[in-house]
Amino acid sequence: MKKVETKNELINEMMRFKQQNKSIGFVPTMGFLHEGHLTLIEEAKKDNQIVILSIFVNPLQFGPTEDFDSYPRDKKRDEELALKAGVDLIFSPSVEEMYPTEPSYTVNVRDRVNVLCGKSREGHFNGVATVLTKLFNLIRPNKAYFGMKDAQQVAVIEGLISEFHFPIEIVPVATIREEDGLAKSSRNVYLNELERHQASALYRSLLKARDDINNGERNIDQIKKQVQQMIMKETTGKIDYVEVLSYPELKEMKVIKGKFILAVAVKFTNARLIDNITMEV
Ligand code: PAF
Repeated sequence: MKKVETKNELINEMMRFKQQNKSIGFVPTMGFLHEGHLTLIEEAKKDNQIVILSIFVNPLQFGPTEDFDSYPRDKKRDEELALKAGVDLIFSPSVEEMYPTEPSYTVNVRDRVNVLCGKSREGHFNGVATVLTKLFNLIRPNKAYFGMKDAQQVAVIEGLISEFHFPIEIVPVATIREEDGLAKSSRNVYLNELERHQASALYRSLLKARDDINNGERNIDQIKKQVQQMIMKETTGKIDYVEVLSYPELKEMKVIKGKFILAVAVKFTNARLIDNITMEV
């Protein structure tokens, strides 16, 4: 497995792969790899001859009060896991390498961002779209892999790829869960013991809603109310949002119809957890 930290090294390596006509799968991450990331790598390996992993905690997508400094990092462990998973090349640039100066050009995302996490994380998706634009241009992959845990991110990236004509296929990968249903996330380490125990209620509330919808419930307020009640009853977390929106457009709907997302965000003492299900009726 090759490890590179500079754009020039990366460009050279990518040229080599392109000359050999290899298909490239790209898994962008912020590191502190967990099973969710390893599944993205596994999927990328199935579809491509070469798998590139980027590890970069992108300051542009963190707000001033968010956890950029304390975001968990463990480069050595990440490299060991990536090697075991069969990654061909890791790109782990420094902040200075990606942003040598204060950026003068950034991507401004106007659609699909003023709802769900975008509502309380102003500028977050501009940061995500900007760093991905840079990474896509450097790597020029055939396919890029993203977890559906961040379904809004998948919707925004789908829009980015389509509007900027990136010749890249986006591959959304189903959320990987702990045994009790909690969606795997690097931020789960911030939960205390009690909160970790309670946190599975998020997914259970989504599953209950899915059953109700499969049994014919179409009233959005009713679905949202039940999810809220279950989370309030079973956790000490504070609900940030419970939303039902069309997917991937992320528009409000009057009744449940077509493809949609049911998404929740709950704040615990030191972690804000998100989860969702997408369905089509
Ligand atoms: O999902 C993430 O880890 C990040 O938002 C991404 C896609 C790597 C961009 O920094």
